[in-house]
Amino acid sequence: MWWRAVRARRRVAGARTASTAAEKSCRAVVVPRFGGPEVLEVRQGVPVPDLKPREVLVRTRAVSINPLDQRMRSGYGRSIFEPQLPLIIGRDISGEVAATGTSASSFSIGQEVFGALHPTALRGTYADYAILSLDELTPKPSTLSHAEASAIPFAALTAWRALHGTARISEGQRVLVIGGGGAVGLAAVQLAVAAGCGVSATCGTQSIERVMGAGAEQAIDYTTEDTEAAVKGKFDAVLDTIGVPETERIGINVLRRGGYYMTLQIDMDWP
Ligand SMILES: NC(=O)c1ccc[n+]([C@@H]2O[C@H](COP(=O)([O-])OP(=O)(O)OC[C@H]3O[C@@H](n4cnc5c(N)ncnc54)[C@H](OP(=O)(O)O)[C@@H]3O)[C@@H](O)[C@H]2O)c1
Repeated sequence: MWWRAVRARRRVAGARTASTAAEKSCRAVVVPRFGGPEVLEVRQGVPVPDLKPREVLVRTRAVSINPLDQRMRSGYGRSIFEPQLPLIIGRDISGEVAATGTSASSFSIGQEVFGALHPTALRGTYADYAILSLDELTPKPSTLSHAEASAIPFAALTAWRALHGTARISEGQRVLVIGGGGAVGLAAVQLAVAAGCGVSATCGTQSIERVMGAGAEQAIDYTTEDTEAAVKGKFDAVLDTIGVPETERIGINVLRRGGYYMTLQIDMDWP
């Protein structure tokens, strides 16, 4: 049937894979061996793999340095990443679509996008060109600069997964964010407020205004106040971004029956 053939041809024509010399290899920051920041090397001519159907090639405009990047550089996830050395690290990115896979035509060439790779993705974002799958990217609002946008995804997704994926927060619930002044904490405050929850948070003196500005009902200064005395009542969900024994004890003590205590303290030996 002629119309089927035409549609198929259009799909192929609309799908662009990496083709220019600049998109076949590019500059990248690599980790040749695990260690401190001194191991990072800028290399030219690092290969850019061909796109799979649901992947998008992004021309990098900004990346952010995430705590996971630093851990990966130091050897976290060694059993997955050691065979990949020299490794390109980096999860967050903001940039422009340079090419799309055959099933990724929902994005258009030149479109401004931002997003984050999965924690175990092997080729990171510290490169002039990065590859993300369709569901790891979203259009960048024009109100955000690339630098601002690149600072959001991994931290905000961490908060999202905890509050919506694990605790399944809902309107009217009470949420306590321990460390509300940090990247994950401030995202958590905003997400919980947006979900219609009553939010309390602990943070440092310089973060009080920001946390209250994000819609929290209460911001407790952990540097000058006794958190345990200042926190009133019980909570449906506690997100502890600090995860030391003291914050863990307080977080668990203020939980309602059936509530969720979630810590971001990780096992350094993973996986
Ligand atoms: N960023 C991510 O994408 C991400 C993803 C997964 C897991 N994590 C993990 O989550 C944790 C937090 O990461 P982050 O990126 O949000 O860190 P961050 O931006 O550095 O924020 C941490 C904040 O914690 C506050 N703080 C320190 N001690 C505190 C205490 N005793 N009580 C309350 N607040 C305290 C400080 O806030 P003030 O400035 O207000 O003093 C600091 O800004 C880390 O363990 C990180 O590895 C992060």
